[in-house]
Amino acid sequence: MQVDTAIIGAGAAGMMCAAHARGRILLVDHARAPGEKIRISGGGRCNFTNLHADAGAFISGNPHFAKSALARYTQWDFIDLVDRHRIAWHEKTLGQLFCDTSAKQIIAMLRGLMQQNGVDLRLQSTAHDIERTADGFSFALSQDGRRTTVRARTLVICTGGKSIPKMGATGMAYEVAAQFGLKVTQTRPALVPFTFAKERFAGLAGVSTQARVTAGGQSFEEALLFTHRGLSGPAVLQASSYWRDGEEISVNLSPDHDLYAALREKRTRTGRRNLTTVLAEHLPARLVEHLARKTDLTGNLADQSDAKLRDMTQALGHWTMAPTGTEGYRTAEVTLGGIDTDELSAKTMETNKVPGLFFIGEAVDVTGWLGGYNFQWAWSSAMAAARAL
Ligand code: FDA
Repeated sequence: MQVDTAIIGAGAAGMMCAAHARGRILLVDHARAPGEKIRISGGGRCNFTNLHADAGAFISGNPHFAKSALARYTQWDFIDLVDRHRIAWHEKTLGQLFCDTSAKQIIAMLRGLMQQNGVDLRLQSTAHDIERTADGFSFALSQDGRRTTVRARTLVICTGGKSIPKMGATGMAYEVAAQFGLKVTQTRPALVPFTFAKERFAGLAGVSTQARVTAGGQSFEEALLFTHRGLSGPAVLQASSYWRDGEEISVNLSPDHDLYAALREKRTRTGRRNLTTVLAEHLPARLVEHLARKTDLTGNLADQSDAKLRDMTQALGHWTMAPTGTEGYRTAEVTLGGIDTDELSAKTMETNKVPGLFFIGEAVDVTGWLGGYNFQWAWSSAMAAARAL
C-alpha cells in the first residue's frame, strides 16, 4: 500500500492531524475505537480547551517551544470548529470549556472531518518494523492476522504517553525516537494523586476543601480531596506535575482569607464558643476533628492568646508533608517528558535529523496543566504538522 502520510495513533492529535492533512492519509491504531481518551475525558464531557491557553501553562524542557504551535492554532480556532459543528459548550471554571452533552460529540466531529478528508482509518491494527527508505518510510501493518507493507512519504507518530496502560497506552513513540537516534527526556506520571502511609489521613477519605498546594515552587489554588490512599483533587493533581520523589509539599488550608484576623474578631464577639466549632465554620468539620486529634485545639476561643491563634493559623496555612509517592501511570492523566523538543521544529513538529518524520501530541515533551490545556496542545501540534504535510 502506498500513501502520502501514515499517522500512527488515532487519539486527539492523530485524528486532528488526519482530518486536516493533504493527500492520501492512513491512520493506524491498535484500539477498537479512535479517541478513547477523549471519550472518558472531563467526566465524559471533555474539557476540550482552556480560554487562557498559552505557553505559560505548559511544562517542557524548552518553555518557549509550544509558543509557535499554540499561536498558529489557538483555543479560539478550536472553539470556532466546535461552534461550526453546533456542539454546545460551557465554561466550568478557570477558563475550562466542556461539552454540554457528551465528549462523544468531539469524537464524532473529528470522525466526520476525517471522512470528508478521505482518511483510511485502520483500527485494531499495529505498525511495526518501521524503516527509512529512499523516498520516505515503510512499515508492516498487521490487521486481523494479515500483514501488509505500507510505504509512506511522511510518518507522524502520535501514540501519546504511558498513562493508563489499561486503555492501551504504550511507549511506542519513545521506541521510534530511540530507533532514529532522537533524544527523549525523562518521563514520569503527572496530574496524578499523591499517596501517603496508610494511616496518615485515616477517616478523612471523601473530605474536600479549597486549598493552595505548593510543590517544586509552583502553587495551585483549587479543591483538595482526601482519599483512602492520600491526596487528590485539582490543586493536588496540578502540583504533582512539579513534584519530585522525596520532596515535601505544602498545603495552605485557608488560602482565600485571613483566618487569624477572622478568629480574633470572633473571639471578641463570641469568645465562649468552642475553638473547634468556630474552626468548622471555615474548614470541613471532619478535617477539624482530625486536626484536633493531632494538635492542641482544645478550649474556647476566649482561652486562645494572640500568639496561640497566630501559631495555629500559621500551621494551617503551611501544612508540610512528604508524599510517599504517586498513584503512577495507572491513574495519571498525562505523562510528563517525552520526545526532546530540541529534536523538533517548533513550527511543523518535523524532526530535524529525519526529514519526513513528525511527532505530535502528548508524546512530545510538552505537558499542560489540568483544565483543557493538554487537548489544546494535541490540537495545536496536530495542526502544525498537518499544515506542513
Ligand atoms: P492519546 O493518548 O489521546 O492517543 C494515542 C493513541 O495512540 C491512542 O488511540 C492509542 O490507542 C494509540 N496507540 C498507543 N500505542 C499504540 C501502538 N503501539 N500502536 C497503535 N496505536 C497505539 N486533557 C484535557 O485537555 N482535558 C481533559 O478533560 C482531559 N481529561 C483526561 C481524563 C483522563 C482520564 C485521562 C487519562 C487524560 C485526560 N486528558 C485531558 C489528557 C488527554 O487525554 C491527553 O493529553 C490527550 O489525549 C493526548 O492526545 P494524544 O493524541 O497525544 O494521545
